[in-house]
Amino acid sequence: MKILIINGPNLNMLGIREPEIYGSMTLEQMNEKLAVEGNLLELELDFFQSNHEGAIIDRIQEAYGLMDGIIINPGAYSHYSYAIRDAIKSVDIKTVEVHLSDIANREYFRKTSVIEDVVEKQISGKGINSYFEALQYLKEHLK
Ligand code: DQA
Repeated sequence: MKILIINGPNLNMLGIREPEIYGSMTLEQMNEKLAVEGNLLELELDFFQSNHEGAIIDRIQEAYGLMDGIIINPGAYSHYSYAIRDAIKSVDIKTVEVHLSDIANREYFRKTSVIEDVVEKQISGKGINSYFEALQYLKEHLK
């Protein structure tokens, strides 16, 4: 099973960016931990981060026919990118939306996710555990 893990804008700044909200772990450290978990679950993980909407869309399209599942944290694009939403819908790959912080309990503009209803599941507010749970979910549902 091949899983693509996509992190969107500003998630390359983890560890520096608002640690009181996003924690002190860097993206690299987080991905290392996810890689270990992926091995345990016998999932093949591919990691991608970009600050650019088009690059994220290109990566989703490239996953067509190659990846079995996607875990995506679209960052702020979650709240307004209909283009990323359309890309997820186009490829028809089981996708889990994740957020480190609890988007339902922050500023009003974060409460809406425009991709929520085209993904299998949204997991929010659990820090790195949002990603771990997403891996677990895909492991169980991709059988
Ligand atoms: C985020 C929440 C978004 O609102 C924010 O723009 C991010 C990170 C999260 O993981 O909590 O960049 O997706």
